[in-house]
Amino acid sequence: MEKEGAYAWLSLGGNDVLMLNDARGIEYVFKRNADNYRKSKFYNVLKPMLGQSILMSEGTIWRRQRKESSPVFAPKPIEEMIPDMVDAVESMFRRWETKDISKEGIDLNFETMFLALDVLLRTLFHEDKKEKAREMQAAIITLLREAEERVWSWFKLPQRITFLLPKYRNSLHLLNQTIHDLMVARERNQSYPEDLLSRLIKSYGSSDEERKLLRDQIMTFLLAGHETTANGLVWSCYYLSLHPEIWRKMQQEVDVVFAGQPPSAHNIKELVYCRQVFEEVLRFHPVVWTMSRDSIVHDKIPLEDGTHLDIPPNTTVMLCSYAVHRREKYWENPDAFDPERFSPDTVRKRPVFAYFPFGGGARQCLGIRFAQIESVLSLAMLVQRYNIHLKPGQAIKAIPNITLRPEGAVFFRLLSRQKIQHGVSEPFEVVQLPELTPLKSQCPFNQVAV
Ligand code: HEM
Repeated sequence: MEKEGAYAWLSLGGNDVLMLNDARGIEYVFKRNADNYRKSKFYNVLKPMLGQSILMSEGTIWRRQRKESSPVFAPKPIEEMIPDMVDAVESMFRRWETKDISKEGIDLNFETMFLALDVLLRTLFHEDKKEKAREMQAAIITLLREAEERVWSWFKLPQRITFLLPKYRNSLHLLNQTIHDLMVARERNQSYPEDLLSRLIKSYGSSDEERKLLRDQIMTFLLAGHETTANGLVWSCYYLSLHPEIWRKMQQEVDVVFAGQPPSAHNIKELVYCRQVFEEVLRFHPVVWTMSRDSIVHDKIPLEDGTHLDIPPNTTVMLCSYAVHRREKYWENPDAFDPERFSPDTVRKRPVFAYFPFGGGARQCLGIRFAQIESVLSLAMLVQRYNIHLKPGQAIKAIPNITLRPEGAVFFRLLSRQKIQHGVSEPFEVVQLPELTPLKSQCPFNQVAV
């Protein structure tokens, strides 16, 4: 079987699936003939949680949903959210002050999830639901895992039956109730007329159907803007702990750019190297590692070598960023972690769709700018304050489900740079850690893709 190729036909759960690894073909599906490709049936597992929201819908409903929420994600409103993002990171650092983060370490898989949810609640909802955040986080994860288990499993109980189990029923109830409370509180208090919550509330009527659509939208933003960003941050910490020289280079940049000032819209733009590091994390380890579309009518997908692929109607086309981001055709030495790949000159030499961590075309991630600023800002603040080491003795596994996330807790030791400057040495041996087991051994497509 080909080790590195433009495409492969697979059989997944009884469906013929085209795995497309060719940048020209991917651009065609995402952009040039996007009207012929709708979200695939594999997304249906998210329906009990997300209903008919922007992530799942098509046609007129999707256009309406995209239009009503897009203004919140324009550059200016996002710049205005930066002080709230900074406060969320600062408050995470304050929580750590009572913990022994330098020896015992801290689980950054959990902490980044909490941070991402806190940022969302502060910026898009203007809600301080800290007492609820942990419960909400647990409920979101429970429901997401249920959906994920369905994607690849052969034996599936209907979701309406699974959702009778108390674990799932209670999680769904908690989230529905929280969203209901958010809506009711906002309808009483009009203090933030332009944030996402107010905009969504204004866009929907009072009928049951409209209220249900509104609930689906809120739930989607809570989910789509939460797990993804948190995963990107924890993997950044993981790869940076393997590459202390890159962490130090980021520190040099951050020290010059921040120069004792808090992060702002102006100075974040100057964090060029930090941004390249984050882009490389999402190449090496794309959080949304695969996407899929179903063709509507028969089509011919053009490839870079001038040939075409015949696509029958209702064929699932899988766009696997994990595989494409490691194709030797587009990336020299793809298994090496190297942020220099994202220097502007190098980027110009690659086809645009050799890199798509946020998808592409009209359905590209709506939160892309929000996620980039939040992630670079959080990493920069972390780098500015601490040196980082992965705690030895952990078996870290990447689980390729809907997102590519670490399994369970991931402990890091963080030593304050201020303390190091005052003569406190690193209180432990810095060990050379083995690289993460390559995804190859776990990825369902390993035999053809990477
Ligand atoms: C590192 C963080 C993130 C990554 C890697 C990411 C990735 C993606 C990808 C790949 C898609 C396209 C899925 C497809 O085409 O099937 C998507 C869609 C979407 N994302 Fe993100 N996302 C991130 C953060 C966020 C944030 C912070 C928000 C909002 C606060 C958000 C909101 C959305 C929405 C609403 C969609 C659906 C867009 C549409 O279909 O019109 N995402 N995201």
